[in-house]
Amino acid sequence: MKVVHTIQELRDQLRGQNRAAFVPTMGNLHEGHLQLMKEARQHGDPVVASIFVNRLQFGPNEDFDRYPRTLAADIEKLEAARDVYVLFAPDERELYPEPQNFRVQPPADLGDILEGEFRPGFFEGVSTVVLKLLSCVQPRTAVFGKKDYQQLMIVRNMCRQFQLPVDIVAHETVRDADGLAMSSRNRFLSEAERAEAPRLYALLQGLREQVIAGEMDVAALERAAQDDLTAHGWQVDYLALRRQHDLRAPAAADIEGKTPLVIVAAAKLGATRLIDNLEV
Ligand code: PAJ
Repeated sequence: MKVVHTIQELRDQLRGQNRAAFVPTMGNLHEGHLQLMKEARQHGDPVVASIFVNRLQFGPNEDFDRYPRTLAADIEKLEAARDVYVLFAPDERELYPEPQNFRVQPPADLGDILEGEFRPGFFEGVSTVVLKLLSCVQPRTAVFGKKDYQQLMIVRNMCRQFQLPVDIVAHETVRDADGLAMSSRNRFLSEAERAEAPRLYALLQGLREQVIAGEMDVAALERAAQDDLTAHGWQVDYLALRRQHDLRAPAAADIEGKTPLVIVAAAKLGATRLIDNLEV
């Protein structure tokens, strides 16, 4: 694997390649990330990954400084997995040599709801850095995880609307054996919190079963799940049944009909904020 830190080195490595498959990350790699890179091999060659902790997508009270930076260990994992040909790991001066005044502003109806409501500016930061990374790597395909469902949707819509010549591929959420979605933030959970954390996914599964069984009072279902979390010490940002295609609340006809739905949730356990979702 070639590790490059500058855009020039990246371009030199990729010269003449137009079938690259790309996996952007913020590092502190876990099995979820590694599976995305394995998936990328099915969609292009060479596989390019990036590691960049993107300041733009962190709010003033968020964990940018605390975000785990483990480049040496990440490189070891990538070397062992043998799926990635080029790792692009720029520093901030390389990717933001001047203040990033041109930004990608996602539409409010998608960017300001759910995650966007609790993390103002988050999707602007994500969209902006993803556009920049795509422009550096110029891949044919880019792979994103469904774990960050709204992010995936926003990136897809951005690429479509800017007519970028890249296919966005979605990879299923990778979980620990007890159901907890893998995340770089899981390492901040205490032992007791780690034992409690699978409740989030278990509740999503329960809610899904009730919706499939024809339970129509969605608000009551959502409230029961939220209350269950709160009773177990969580602080719930949102837990809601939404339509897959626009993340809006479903009407009765959507629930009765065949509109694909998804349950999305974000909640804090102690100081650690976890997100998850489940398609219905
Ligand atoms: P990061 O959180 O490092 O995630 C990088 C990619 O891995 C994203 O596409 C994310 O959805 C995926 N991912 C993370 N955990 C996963 C899991 N358990 N199962 C499947 N996929 C998983 O998301 C970001 O970084 C950033 O916002 C980024 C897109 C790199 C822009 O800065």
